[in-house]
Amino acid sequence: MGCHQQKKSFAVTTSHRPAKVNTDLGKHFAKNLGVPFAERNDLSLKTLADVLKVRGLVVVAANRVSYFEGGQEFFFHPGLASLRIKELKNGKTDQMIKAMSLHPGDNVLDCTLGLGSDAIVASFVTGTEGRITGLEDSCVIAALVQHGLTTYPEPEKDLALAMRRIRVINVNYKEYLAGLAPRSYDIVYFDPMFRIPRRHSPAMDTIRTLANPHPLDRETVDLALKAAARRVVMKERRGSTEFQRLGFHRIEGGRYAPVVYGVIERKSL
Ligand SMILES: C[S@@+](CC[C@H](N)C(=O)[O-])C[C@H]1O[C@@H](n2cnc3c(N)ncnc32)[C@H](O)[C@@H]1O
Repeated sequence: MGCHQQKKSFAVTTSHRPAKVNTDLGKHFAKNLGVPFAERNDLSLKTLADVLKVRGLVVVAANRVSYFEGGQEFFFHPGLASLRIKELKNGKTDQMIKAMSLHPGDNVLDCTLGLGSDAIVASFVTGTEGRITGLEDSCVIAALVQHGLTTYPEPEKDLALAMRRIRVINVNYKEYLAGLAPRSYDIVYFDPMFRIPRRHSPAMDTIRTLANPHPLDRETVDLALKAAARRVVMKERRGSTEFQRLGFHRIEGGRYAPVVYGVIERKSL
């Protein structure tokens, strides 16, 4: 769902008896998102949502900022990225990094930021000389993930630095790609919502109501190919017909992995 539709359906509030700093942060979020801020007034989230006639609420609490809708909570957490970075440090292969053929100093455009896990892992690999830009169409996801990336109290220093380096832009990738000069990024990456959702994906379940569910189109892949100096990479389920439909004829990934990566190299064009 795009931001315009989302704005009509949510508001911002706080946890019960908030500290002033959290009320201020809530007002700041509401202003930036262009939606109302509502005092919590000891109401349950369900009652407050009913009173305000909204589907969901962004809730600023002392320890995190979350989005609640229909009993589901979405909040930023670097857990998945943290596990993958540990594996990389132990010398294991990360299939996304391999498919991107990513090196320190590379510039990556992550067109589908979501929870930011792929962007954080890419940022860890590209390092201080690299540049990671994450695009996200949902204003709620973009705002919560940007806040998390910059403020999450991550004790692992290199993971924290990888998170802080990511630039988040709340925009539709097609619009952004259309305005780019040729070869603006080394790698352009897509991880759209899968056409057929994976059964066990709790991380994705929490953002499903907010995320833009539309499939990638050929025109966007062409724009990405212009914007990429080296490759365009797309993550999808193994065997997905999306690869062929969009022109990703080279597939990389673990032999038995349920999720694989389609690659189009600029050189081969
Ligand atoms: C499967 S999630 C990405 C997960 C991400 N790779 C991660 O590691 O957390 C897809 C995300 O892309 C966003 N998205 C889908 N279409 C988009 C578009 N046209 N422009 C920008 N973002 C888009 C969705 O809103 C969703 O948050």
